[in-house]
Amino acid sequence: MAGLGKVPYAPQNVEEVQTLIRNLEGSTKKEAKNSKKSFSCKKTAFTVANSPEKITVFSWRFQDWDYKRDNLPTYARGLFTSKNERGQPEICIRGYDKFFNTEEVDATKWRNIENNTKGPYELSLKENGCIIFISGLHDGTLLVCSKHSTGPRGDETKSHAIAGEHWIDKQLAAIGKTREDLARELRRRNATAVAELCDDDFEEHILAYTGENAGLYLHGMNINLPEFMTYPGPQVQAFAEEWGFKKTDFLVLDDMQTTKTFLDQVAETGSYNGRDVEGFVIRCKSQEKASGPLMDWFFKYKFEEPYLMYRQWRECTKALISGKPPRFKKHVKITEEYLLFARQKLAENRGMGKEYAANHGIIKLRDDFLKEKNLKGSDIIREEYAITGGNPKETTKDIILVPIATLGCGKTTLAVALVHLFGWGHIQNDNITGKGRPPRFTKEVLTQLEQKPVVFADRNNAQRHERHQIIDDVKKTHPEMRMVALNFVHTPDTIHKIRTVTQSRILARGDNHQTIQAASDQNKVLGIMEGFISRFEALNPYSQPDDGFDAVIDLDPTANSRDNLEIVVGQLSDLFPNLIKDMPSSEDLDDAINVALSEYEPEIRHTIGDRGPKNNNNKKKQPSKEPPQIVKKQKPLEYVSVNLPKTPILDSLETAFASVSSNKGRFFRQLQETRRVQPEFHVTLIHRASSKAHPELWLKYTEMHAQSGGDPWSGGSKMGQCKVLLERIVWDNRIMAIVVRLVDEDENWECVNQVAHITVGTRGDDVKPKESNDLLKRWIEVGSGDDSGIGEVAIEGRIILDGTVKGILSR
Ligand code: GTP
Ligand code: MG
Repeated sequence: MAGLGKVPYAPQNVEEVQTLIRNLEGSTKKEAKNSKKSFSCKKTAFTVANSPEKITVFSWRFQDWDYKRDNLPTYARGLFTSKNERGQPEICIRGYDKFFNTEEVDATKWRNIENNTKGPYELSLKENGCIIFISGLHDGTLLVCSKHSTGPRGDETKSHAIAGEHWIDKQLAAIGKTREDLARELRRRNATAVAELCDDDFEEHILAYTGENAGLYLHGMNINLPEFMTYPGPQVQAFAEEWGFKKTDFLVLDDMQTTKTFLDQVAETGSYNGRDVEGFVIRCKSQEKASGPLMDWFFKYKFEEPYLMYRQWRECTKALISGKPPRFKKHVKITEEYLLFARQKLAENRGMGKEYAANHGIIKLRDDFLKEKNLKGSDIIREEYAITGGNPKETTKDIILVPIATLGCGKTTLAVALVHLFGWGHIQNDNITGKGRPPRFTKEVLTQLEQKPVVFADRNNAQRHERHQIIDDVKKTHPEMRMVALNFVHTPDTIHKIRTVTQSRILARGDNHQTIQAASDQNKVLGIMEGFISRFEALNPYSQPDDGFDAVIDLDPTANSRDNLEIVVGQLSDLFPNLIKDMPSSEDLDDAINVALSEYEPEIRHTIGDRGPKNNNNKKKQPSKEPPQIVKKQKPLEYVSVNLPKTPILDSLETAFASVSSNKGRFFRQLQETRRVQPEFHVTLIHRASSKAHPELWLKYTEMHAQSGGDPWSGGSKMGQCKVLLERIVWDNRIMAIVVRLVDEDENWECVNQVAHITVGTRGDDVKPKESNDLLKRWIEVGSGDDSGIGEVAIEGRIILDGTVKGILSR
């Protein structure tokens, strides 16, 4: 690598990594939450599928907004840890330090950028694909991860990490190297390769990536350390060249002034090298304190108003020239005036259209227009803000959240969670009965906005006319209201999955709804759901009525509501940075979704039929004629257990006690004779009583249970399989249990009890099965024998039983 300078390198320091992990661990614990100044980090384990030693890696994930705190143990966005060949902790994937937009945080205020940073400034286009991290594990495995996960997800075809692996195999094959070669090389460098997966066959992007253009674009090489250390552009490119990656272009500028002037200029036209760009990432060195060291440091420059408006004008002008209808959704009034002006000019000057189409005279036409109006772009934006309720960056109220969805997308769940988190308002269309519902719905939303900064207008708005109604009714009288669409995206490709997920949710919900009572009439409910899906009209931000939304947040109806909640909170805080003062921690989000999933019940219930498909000939009673009645609360999940076959357990008990003294077998005989042996056997994984101590696991299981789509009234639904090894029998004079071990290679199941066990039986109703936990705690502490009054017998022969994991609802 002659001429490129020294390649950055530093080895890992085990103690430092240990400290880092300890600090991250600390923040996953409950205690960390108590102080306001806390954050919490989510830890997820993955067994690396193709690793010969079955290495487990852990992903560490902060909430995006936590990166604005000044006390994180690391700012790496995308971080995985594991163990090295000596069993010591190591960082195996290290993303970039989270970087911010100019003016977004203190460090990115221009003044601070000017004072604290040092060139060269390497500019690259802000990418739009998905990020892929690659590194080498000690057993020679190439680890390929997306930001927070590795290996297949439920649906293999959609996993970013797997798509990344396919591309790597392709590029390595082309240069005659193996995955292991790359793994060893990355490990030798103690580095993570950071690339952008750009492939339209996998995921559509704003810029086209097909054929020769598709692949992995290497844009960084990070050293696997807690602090941020990364290769300069030329060395990244050299590595890309050597290992068959596509190269990322960097524009290198020497000083800050040149850089800023360049960025401002590109903002003027919104395009660079002939392509529309969203913004740039700038890499440089920064020094926080005058005496401190220079560290690698990134920031973003994103194009904002009025440049976005100028870009819209340019696109509309080009549409005019080519005879297409101009599409625009923002700055409607002024854009119409501009287009009138542009049309005139184009008519007056024949050659102008052709020139313009070749990107000449764009700025001049815009400036001529502004001059005639005697306005500056910034004045226009300011005036618009004055009408529409001010700069969104300063907005703290008057926001309406408008879902666009079908049944079961999780609207009410999201709404209840937001109410729980922030005390915002929530109006449910389903609670409004009688005639003239649409205007009354709008009115209730507006009334609640007098008290609350944000109101969730909980209705499907699946059809354009419904969106038209609410937008018009609101904006007519309240132009200052900001309407944010929560767009549950439905496409022909995803509709099948959406149908599966929403149907299973609605059926699991049973009668816990005002109108849709799936337990009572399943077929009718499925028909209503189909009706909504068939009438669904996708959002089109460029035409009426959807151009009336001030912003759109895209959500995936098949994702779980926890993920959608995080997206909504994150994007609202990006749109309105002053809206949410205290950003919630990931535990707060878990809690809020838990509340919404398990404790919510509707206030009223009316008969089915008022939401049926339009062409349904059966004229149903209006719901208003039906007196509202209170619905019984849906039974919440009580515990999750591995249920086991009875006979082999009874046989094992008999066999074990047959070979010991009759004295030892006395309590077992007593249980048998008094018919106190349990009628069925199971290993409890977690009980509702422990849900607060293990919120994530409880959420995961609640989730799996609901997804398993079991009939909640059948006493449990199957969530999966788990093998169980019977180890030993332990008892005192009150209770008997079998100590077991979960044989669960995929690590799907986790038991929160200190000792996983099966309760065999208790001496009477006065002794509850859960006291097995107390028995086994004492057994661990003091052991068996006459002193402790605890008996113990081993179960010989490695008996492993196939168990079924089930969720059991409370009675
Ligand atoms: P309608 O009011 O019928 O239009 O539905 P909605 O969009 O308001 O959906 P709702 O929030 O009621 O969710 C439907 C059912 O799915 C409820 O029983 C929820 O508890 C459940 N649900 C919502 N989100 C999730 C989730 O992330 N995972 C699982 N498993 N269930 C969920
Ligand atoms: Mg609902």
